Amino acid sequence: MCGIVGIIGTAPAASRLIEGLRRLEYRGYDSAGLATLDGGAIQRRRAKGKIAVLDDLLRTDPIGGTTGVGHTRWATHGMPNEANAHPHANGRVAVVHNGIIENFQTLRDELVAKGHAFTSDTDTEVVVHLISQGIAEGTEPIEATRRALGRLEGAFALGILLKDRPDVLIAARQGSPLALGRGEGEMFLGSDALALAPMTQRITYLEDGDWAVLTTEGATIRDLDGQEVARPEQLSSLSGAMIGKGGHRHFMAKEIFEQPQVIGDTLNAMFNPTRRSITLPDLPFDLAAVPRITMIACGTASLAGLVGKYWLERFAGVAVDWDLASEFRYRAPVMAEGGLAIFISQSGETADTLAALRYCKQHGQHCLGIVNAPESTIAREADAVLPTLAGPEIGVASTKAFTTQLVVLACLTIALARARGVMDRETEARLSGAMTEVPSRAAEVLNHDGRIRAIAEDAFVPARDVLYLGRGTSYPLALEGALKLKEISYIHAEGYAAGEMKHGPIALIDEHVPVVVIAPSDPLFEKTASNVQEVVARGGKAVVFSDAEGVKRLRDLALDAVALPAVDPFVAPILYALPVQLLAYHTAVAKGTDVDQPRNLAKAVTVE
Ligand code: AGP
Repeated sequence: MCGIVGIIGTAPAASRLIEGLRRLEYRGYDSAGLATLDGGAIQRRRAKGKIAVLDDLLRTDPIGGTTGVGHTRWATHGMPNEANAHPHANGRVAVVHNGIIENFQTLRDELVAKGHAFTSDTDTEVVVHLISQGIAEGTEPIEATRRALGRLEGAFALGILLKDRPDVLIAARQGSPLALGRGEGEMFLGSDALALAPMTQRITYLEDGDWAVLTTEGATIRDLDGQEVARPEQLSSLSGAMIGKGGHRHFMAKEIFEQPQVIGDTLNAMFNPTRRSITLPDLPFDLAAVPRITMIACGTASLAGLVGKYWLERFAGVAVDWDLASEFRYRAPVMAEGGLAIFISQSGETADTLAALRYCKQHGQHCLGIVNAPESTIAREADAVLPTLAGPEIGVASTKAFTTQLVVLACLTIALARARGVMDRETEARLSGAMTEVPSRAAEVLNHDGRIRAIAEDAFVPARDVLYLGRGTSYPLALEGALKLKEISYIHAEGYAAGEMKHGPIALIDEHVPVVVIAPSDPLFEKTASNVQEVVARGGKAVVFSDAEGVKRLRDLALDAVALPAVDPFVAPILYALPVQLLAYHTAVAKGTDVDQPRNLAKAVTVE
């Protein structure tokens, strides 16, 4: 989850490399650096911390050159410091890398034995010395690069400068995303189209095993045997305009408050208002015939998938296996021939989810992507895509992507149930009608922002641990609420199935542990209400989210109880995501953490 960018052109490169890196900062931000070819030599500037620190350094210590590479880092090997910041370079070669070179230690030992002195703890540095060794042995620099690439194992997207070949810039892709951009008399490389948007919309995505030689006139793409390959050029839909915060203090706040709009946009792409029915895009397989579904994702996206499991089994009558992508392919899953595998991903680049997709393709599954980035690798490798129309999500904590993923899963549920003939028209009309209510109900929930902020500041900021409880489709919401809180406020939080409390976690309850209870009025409400009693009886501080009926029942018991609009239980998970997002947001703001770029995290986890 690092970001890389490169330019080979005729105008000064440094400022445009910085611009490209700024758009990649969501991929990692613990250090950054640039390298250019200037006056026949490799120039390099690197800095610990965010790109702004590097930008300041360049103001006082600029570098020239019209060809260069840039990098913003999320550390995998080696602490976040200047010595480990990319680009890694010696006098001949400069390299920026996203991914993990799994055989780096073997290569490093071999190169040290040949006299190479390493200056970092990173896996990436072996690429510099491997190419340099080839050149030192008399191999032509581009050929030395090709041979070095052939020795690397693992995942890498690379941008490579060669001092002896100032007329070229090398790009290579194995497992980590990499795009080429075409300009007028210049060429670009970047981790995604967003980074290249200020320079060009003419994008070519490299495939695994591709490497490319870029010149100011174009690019030649080859496989590792040196055979030239053709990759299609497409026009990116991403604009060059920098994505702003829309007057909000943080991207996360903007994205939370965008949800009524983007939930509506995503729903409207599939809901026919005249027929009041859901119509999916044409799929290259018979949805009604799938014998079994496997739902696979990571993090917040996996929790949307868990809600989807509950919906699909209850309403469409199809068995759903739900799995974390990082576990899935390693447990030798048994897969039904002709099954449907669903991959949910905001970025469309999450390495574990992508690897699971490739596993499922090899095992005869129809692969459906639910992604927010239509040009992403998962979107391109799936057999079909149901897009979330959330727009770019910059805050590392996923919010609007989550609720729009739920909208797509809800629509898929209704469409599949109808296709299988297991949902009558009355039920379909009820559920579809409930869906159309969600955008306006979501706007109503956001009116509780001030109230939720007060709860966060009073009860959550001082907390050491927080528990979240829910039953049925509120159980994945409990998990999501806990994930939101811990990833941006750094407070330990756990989500539990409310019925699980008495099997151990209830031992954690005392007056220092706030307990969030997600309790919409649904068939499980009474049982959840009993769990609130159990919590309060042990001195716990319960914060209840329900509707007016539920709040009336639990207000006197709870530390606080917030009434959300009454909705059909089917759509409750979409609505109840908003208060747990706001709780986490306001707690993090009050604690002064870096809300949009929390420590140790990155927006797209493109390494295993
Ligand atoms: C969620 O807030 C986190 N940022 C993280 O769990 C994220 O959902 C996960 O990494 C999956 O990312 P993806 O949706 O881009 O695949």
